[in-house]
Parts: sequence; C-alpha cells; structure tokens
Amino acid sequence: MGPLKLIPLDDVVVFPGMPVRLPLDLGGDTRVLLVPRHGNGYAKVGVVAEVSSTGRRRNRGATSLVALHRAVPGAANEDRDGVLRVEVDERPDVTPPPVQTKDLEREYRAVVEEILELRGDDGRISAFVRSITAPGTLADTAGYAPDLNYAQKVELLQTLDVVERLTLALRLQQERLAELQVRKRIREDVESGAQKQQRDYFLRQQMDAIRKELGQNEGSVAEEYRNKIAAAGMPDTVKAQAERELSRFERIGDSNAEASMIRTYLDWLLAVPWAKRSDERLDPRHAREVLDAEHAGLQDVKRRITEYLAVRKLRAERGLADDRRSGAILTLIGPPGTGKTSIGESIARATGRQFVRMSLGGVRDEAEIRGHRRTYIGALPGRLVRALRDAGTMNPVILLDEVDKLGADWRGDPSAALLEVLDPAQNHTFQDHYLDVPIDLSHVLFIATANVAETIPAPLLDRMEVIPFDGYTTDEKLAIGRGYLWPRQVERNGLRDDDVTVTDDVLRRIISDYTREAGVRQLERQLGTVLRKAATVVATGESPAPIVIDTRAVTDALGRPKFHHEAASRTAVPGVATGLAVTGVGGDVLFVEAAAMAGKSGLVLTGQLGDVMKESARIALTYVRSHARELELDERAFDGREFHLHVPAGAIPKDGPSAGVTMVTALASLLTHRPVKSTVGMTGEVTLQGRVLPIGGLKQKVLAAHAAGLTEVILPERNEPDLDDVPKEVRDQMRFHPVGSVDQVLALALEPAPAAAAMAA
Ligand SMILES: Nc1ncnc2c1ncn2[C@@H]1O[C@H](COP(=O)(O)OP(=O)(O)OP(=O)(O)O)[C@@H](O)[C@H]1O
Ligand SMILES: [Mg+2]
Repeated sequence: MGPLKLIPLDDVVVFPGMPVRLPLDLGGDTRVLLVPRHGNGYAKVGVVAEVSSTGRRRNRGATSLVALHRAVPGAANEDRDGVLRVEVDERPDVTPPPVQTKDLEREYRAVVEEILELRGDDGRISAFVRSITAPGTLADTAGYAPDLNYAQKVELLQTLDVVERLTLALRLQQERLAELQVRKRIREDVESGAQKQQRDYFLRQQMDAIRKELGQNEGSVAEEYRNKIAAAGMPDTVKAQAERELSRFERIGDSNAEASMIRTYLDWLLAVPWAKRSDERLDPRHAREVLDAEHAGLQDVKRRITEYLAVRKLRAERGLADDRRSGAILTLIGPPGTGKTSIGESIARATGRQFVRMSLGGVRDEAEIRGHRRTYIGALPGRLVRALRDAGTMNPVILLDEVDKLGADWRGDPSAALLEVLDPAQNHTFQDHYLDVPIDLSHVLFIATANVAETIPAPLLDRMEVIPFDGYTTDEKLAIGRGYLWPRQVERNGLRDDDVTVTDDVLRRIISDYTREAGVRQLERQLGTVLRKAATVVATGESPAPIVIDTRAVTDALGRPKFHHEAASRTAVPGVATGLAVTGVGGDVLFVEAAAMAGKSGLVLTGQLGDVMKESARIALTYVRSHARELELDERAFDGREFHLHVPAGAIPKDGPSAGVTMVTALASLLTHRPVKSTVGMTGEVTLQGRVLPIGGLKQKVLAAHAAGLTEVILPERNEPDLDDVPKEVRDQMRFHPVGSVDQVLALALEPAPAAAAMAA
C-alpha cells in the first residue's frame, strides 16, 4: 500500500468502527489517513478510513467513510498535485490472550452498565456494547463518551497495546461514573432538602394562622425565641450569634421562606444543652460496684476503667488540666458480642452521666460528623451536635461505636473531624459547620469501640488508650449465661424465675455444642430459642411448672449439636496440622492440609490466602526441602512432585505470617508419614533458617484452642510473657510449649515415626 492522503481532523477524534462524513471530495482515493489535530499539533496515531461503498455516489462534495484501524503516520511528501501524503504503519489491534483481558473486560462492562443506568439509556447503547467481543474495540467504545475531552480521547487513540488501552478506558469510565454519582447525589440532596424546607414553611404558615386566631402575632414568635435564648445559658459568642439571627428574623418577617431557615437554625442552636450538666460522680469504688453488678468477669477491663476514672478524679481534684496523654480516649477493642457496647453504657451509669451511642460504621463523609454549611440546601448539624441534643447534657458519655468501620472518600475524611473532636487541646472550641459557633466538647467522656485495631486510622489509634476484650472462656460464658443472659431471656419470654430451671452441665453443653464464638451473642440467642419453647409449654399448660431444661429439651429446641471437636478426626491422617488464628470475630482453630502429587515441582495454594500467608507457605516448603536430611527425608521425595497446601473454610480470606509453623508441620507430616498429634495447636512465624518468630493475639488464640478441646499449644518463646494474660483456669488445663526453632516444633507436634511406633508396640 502506497502513501495515503493525510486528512487532519480539527479537535475531533475518530476511533476504528466509527462512521465519518467529510465535507470533501476525495478524488480517486479510496483509503485515507485521518489524524486528530489541535492547533498545529497532530496526534501521534491516526486511523485508516475507507470510503464506504455508497459513500461517493450519493453525496456530492462530501464523502462517507468508515474508520478501519489505527495507523502511525511516517514520512510525509507532497505529490504532484500538491496533496500531502504520508507513509503509514498500519496497526490493527493484536488481540491478547483472554486471560489478560478477561477481568478488565468484565469490570469495564459493569462500569459502563452503571453509567448507562444513571444516564437513563433506553437499552440500545447497552445492547451495542454487549454485542462487542474484541477487547480492543470494547476499549474504543469509551471514545463515544460525550464528556471525555479531546486530550483524553487522543490518549486513548494513541494507546496501541490492547491491555493498556482497556486499562485506560476503564479508568476514564470509572472517573465518569464517580462524577455522575456525585451529580446524582447532589441533585437528590437538594431535592430532599428543598422538600423538607417547603414542608416546614407550609406548617409554619398554618401555625401562624392559628396564632392569629388566638390573638398572638409575629412579635410573639420572636418574643418566644428571645425568652428561650435568654434562658439557654449560652456562652457569650453563641448568644450574640443567636441574637443576630433573631433580629434578622424580625427584619424579614415570618412569612418569608428565608425566615423558615432561620427558625430551623435557631431551633438547633437552642437544642444544644448549653448550660446543662449531669453531676459527675468520679468515685472509682462506686464505679467498680456498678461495673461488677452489670458484667461478669472482665477483671482486667474493669480494673483499667476504674484506674482511668481514678486518674481523672485526682487530676480534677488537683486542678490539673487535661494533657494529651491523660486525655487519651478509652478504646475497647475485641470480637463481637464481648460486651464492649454494654460496658460503655455501664460506665455512663457508674459516673452518673447520660449515655449516647454514635455508630460510625459506614460513615464516609466528614459532613456526617460536622454537618453541612448553612449555604447548602437542606443543611443539618452533624452527629455530634445531635448526640448532645439526645443526651440533653454537655457532659455525657458518647460511645463512638465501630471506629474501625470508618470510611473515607471524596467527600472528605471523617477521621480528620474525629481527630479534632478527640483532641483535648482543640475540642473545647469544636465547630459544627451548620451551627458555626464554638461548642465545648471537653467535658464529654468519649469511649470508642472496634473489632480490630488494624483498620482504625493510625492518627486516631495514636490518641487511644486501648483496652483489649479478648473473648470469654467457657467458665466465664457459663457465669455470664447464668447470671445475666438466662434471667434476661426468662423475663423476655414472659416466664417467671421459678417456671424453668437448668443445670450448669446443660448450660455448658449449650455453650460448647451449639455456639462457637468469642463473645456471648449466639449463646443468648440459643437460650432465647430454648426458653421460647419452654414458654409455649407453660402457656399451653402441656406440663406443669417448673419445667426442667435437660439435654432432651435442648436437642428438641436447637437440633443436633452444631459444633464438634474436629481436631482428632482431622489430624488422623498425615499432612494435616492444627493452627491457631485470629479473625475479625475472635480466635479460631484452622486446619492446614498438605498433599503431594506427581507434576512439575512447585507449590499450589488454595483457601483464599493473603500475600503474607502465601509467602509463609513458600518459606515453609523451602525450609522443609533444605532440611530434608535432618528430617530424615529422602531428598528425592521432592523431585518431580508438586505440593498443595490448603487452608479450609475456603470462603473466608485469611492472612498473616503466624501460620508458618503450621504449614511446615503439615508438610513435614506429609513427607515423613507421621501424623500430627491431635491435641496440639500451634502458632508462630518461621524464617528460612527455621527460627520461630513471635506473633500477635496469643490470648485469643489460646482461648480458641481451649474451646476447641485442644490441650497443648506450641507458641514462639518470645510470646511466653503473653501467657500471663490467659485466664488461670485455662492455663491450668493446658500445656504450653514455648519454642525457638522449627525442629522443636516438629519434635513436639509429630507422632513417632511409623517404624518406631511399630517397634514400640
Ligand atoms: N461480661 C458480661 N457480663 C454480662 N453480660 C455480658 C457480658 N459480656 C457481654 N454481655 C452481653 O452480651 C451482649 C452483647 O454485648 P455487646 O453488644 O456489648 O457486644 P459488643 O462487644 O459491643 O459487640 P460488637 O462488637 O458486635 O458491637 C449484651 O447483651 C451484653 O449485655
Ligand atoms: Mg457493640
């Protein structure tokens, strides 16, 4: 193909597949090169376009063409007629293997579908997009987007590599989608805000009519506000602001729509309990009594809370200002159902303060916490102001529930607002965007709760005094069940204390066979189910009270036991080892399985493992392989064999390095044909040299091992001091093996070799 006629397109970008109409007669040329141009700058890539079969005939002085594929212009020359012609390097798309584009394509299509939905497509465009199968062509559909600018389109055109182009197209479409979503949200906000204001206005009009009937007039509305403002005990700056707004209100008259906004504002300003405070009771001994009365166990937690209150009391008595350290906020971190929220309430009762819970789960917008500015239609104060209103005092306990579920996005980072709220140096002049006056939050006792520390924004975590809630032992659950959950459920189900009885043994069975959790929520639910059944029996008079809940009654109500101690059956074959882990819901046991098969040497990993866990698996295999001699393995055992490690409960993502020793043990067990002892659970990170490094969450892991019926735990020696945190009753029932190296682990964990066992027998 010779040089093609070059046709510049000013500020227009044509993509392959698009039809084009040029207001030109092309003479004898059937193919041309179309290149986008802006000013004097040409794009580096153009498209080859072909005159369509009907193109020339029908249009005089104009030509219809179809763009075929990309091409890169080369050397240019004028031909005899003075027409610019260029050499072209034609670059039709090279379609990459599907694995490289599959995910991108799927994502791209999903984003486009969403955009079309937001734009209200009648189905034609989405049918068109669905009809496209080639990934390069799919990426080019972004070129049709009306709100892409010239530079973005040129960039798309110039991206010759299909995978890169699809990635770029996806990014551009994602940006469009985000923008469309913002627009939609703003529209909705405006609509709902406007509706509310209209409604308020309408109601006020009615109220005024009623007032007039009653012989009151506008003056008395203002009068009413004036009295309320005078009585509110506002700080001077706030009072001045309130009076300013009030006189503005009087000036413009009540029938104005603006007046309605001012009144809403004044109502909010008056809703803040400026001068109200509960008499705080900073008596650590009394606090301890309240905590003890409402919660079983949790000795550490209660002690730390009492100490915290004692320090506050001393500082208050001695007139010491809160400094940054002493102002650190109490943060209760632990698995679900361990009593964090409920102890927060107890703290409020113990100190004689009001209690408000502020759930932060899913809060992604700074305005949720701080409010919207008044210029924003339908603006409201943020959650803190609302919390103060709900509390009715300036010194409540505010429980910031689920700080670990706080999000952040384009609407601003809510954790930045929280940071200011929690900083004693700043929080006496907290500014809500809506109220726009300083609010003193320094007398609020903030307590935060979270399930895990990892996802709490770091600057926040830095301000926090963490109190871990690690979960309960079976004995503690029994005490909580007996002392709190059982009586509560008895009452909820309309029963009296003497209507039903249950023995500790049966309660224990419910705990171990029907629940598996660090906290006590499932337990409470199961007790509820059992008692509902009992209530039915009493109500129908089927049998006379008292009803005894025995194992039969439990199976009747709850079905067959849901949980078994599986360690014994799982580890009966070589290649399975019992590890201990911490997940979002507390400690748990997990079984690592190893298998080998003929194949090319390598390692396959399954069970949704995170990157760190995958690395541990590689380290484990390398370690076993390089220490084959010491493990009395035939080095040939590795040749031509592929190893597979699986961590079941495949649907739950897992990560962290602490399964290292478990993986080594599973592999060693497989290769030596020595099963792992069924009573042993283990945790620890391994290095290539076979050293065992410390891990986190030991207490939660030990509690899980204990609940799962294991009696021995292998742990890194550097974690030995953490055993002090494990409740004594559990410590007494288990044996702990602190180790420094992998060979110690294997010596402890593996059953004797089959040969040795046979000889011993
Ligand atoms: N030590 C305890 N003594 C008495 N009751 C308890 C104890 N621990 C938990 N409970 C009860 O268990 C239930 C669940 O506790 P709570 O709602 O406080 O859990 P949580 O730790 O806040 O969980 P989440 O992380 O899911 O919010 C509550 O009804 C609480 O009263
Ligand atoms: Mg809670």
